[in-house]
Amino acid sequence: MEAQKNNYLFKITAIGALGGFLFGYDTAVISGAIGFMETKFSLTPSLKGWAVSSAILGCIIGALTAGYVADRVGRKKALIITALLFAISAIGCLLAPSFTLLVIARIIGGVGVGAASMLSPLYISEISPAEKRGSLVSLYQLGIVLGIIIVYFCNYLVAQAGDEAWNVAYGWRYMLGSEALPALLFLGALFLVPESPRWLSKNGNNAEALRILEKLNPKEKAIEIHQDIQKALQQEKGRLSELFEKGFRTAIIIGVILALFSQITGINAIMYYAPEILKSAGFGVDSALMQTVLIGVINSIFTFVAIKYIDKAGRKKLLLWGILGMIVCLLVIGGLYQFDALGGPWLLIFILGFVACFASSLGPIPWVLIAEIFPTKVRGVAMSICIMVLWVGVMLISQFTPVLLSDLGPSYTFWLFMINAIFLWVFTYRMIPETKGKTLEEIEMGWKK
Ligand code: GLC
Repeated sequence: MEAQKNNYLFKITAIGALGGFLFGYDTAVISGAIGFMETKFSLTPSLKGWAVSSAILGCIIGALTAGYVADRVGRKKALIITALLFAISAIGCLLAPSFTLLVIARIIGGVGVGAASMLSPLYISEISPAEKRGSLVSLYQLGIVLGIIIVYFCNYLVAQAGDEAWNVAYGWRYMLGSEALPALLFLGALFLVPESPRWLSKNGNNAEALRILEKLNPKEKAIEIHQDIQKALQQEKGRLSELFEKGFRTAIIIGVILALFSQITGINAIMYYAPEILKSAGFGVDSALMQTVLIGVINSIFTFVAIKYIDKAGRKKLLLWGILGMIVCLLVIGGLYQFDALGGPWLLIFILGFVACFASSLGPIPWVLIAEIFPTKVRGVAMSICIMVLWVGVMLISQFTPVLLSDLGPSYTFWLFMINAIFLWVFTYRMIPETKGKTLEEIEMGWKK
């Protein structure tokens, strides 16, 4: 019985985590396609920039609206709409007759990514038993990193399938269009998942909420959780202003700071610009590409460290150790540039160290915390605010990394990230409470004390 419940829980979590997979896939697919698109449409540098960043604009819109939609129509329906957006975008890219329509299709996909980036962790968090919630939400981050690696691989296969002329004519379309497959899989699979019991309770559908809780938890436990959910809901006002009252205000500050600093400590400077950074440090083109793959592999492997320890050691301890490791790596990377010590493997080793530390802490934990620290009635909207800030952080880093590298130089760029990481370490130490093992309702009550 217990095993059956665990299997069911794992199955619906995996379906939820597909949202992360599509997120990773969609954000990384463009890297392989953009070169061919540039030739095909004779893109100027600014149009090329637009082709890449239009999706991020969509992400901001998606993150901002999805919470409201999820609070209104439910988590499951909101996820289904998201999957549809991914599918429409992919098929649109496959067929779009003009550059303008292509950009529109990419923006639609971006809205999907932004929406999935908050809905998937929200959904997984609301269905999970307290003692496994950290690991299960971290599976969503695993989905993101696997999406990134697999799309690199698919792009590579497509690029190998024909010569340059074929790739300019068709290849890039297949790269972008291939996303239709996981999108349709996600869409179909979503019909197999139940609605979130917490959202159902919020809407007065208590019988159904209890039925679903019983499918996911031992019977007694389900009844207990259900009572706690109802009790907590009775105390919530459900107004946005509640978030700015004493108590919950701390939660929103934590959510926003974590979201922003998970980005401005530089992970995507590495993820997006690794080949350039390594090439400029004297690595050959081929080895720079190989090392980019290596970065993806390390990123995935170390996400398992978080999955394994997040509910045992706790969010806070993992964050403090992970960020400390990132600070050390950033210090050394900046130093290698500053003292012209780029020969040898050290740059790569410390970049990999940085990614490993990120993957085991600051990669998954913001998703986990942001999905668990808010009261149920406003969880959707509160998450929207935080995750929108996260996407603004993504945009800042992707726009300004090249500028920082050329104007400030690599050493000061990495040291700037380090200063941000130091701030985040102190903030985490002083402000973030430990939430491992607590139910969402217990966390909620905690703010009021
Ligand atoms: C996290 C970050 C995302 C990044 C990814 C890489 O999910 O939020 O921006 O690309 O990790 O592992």
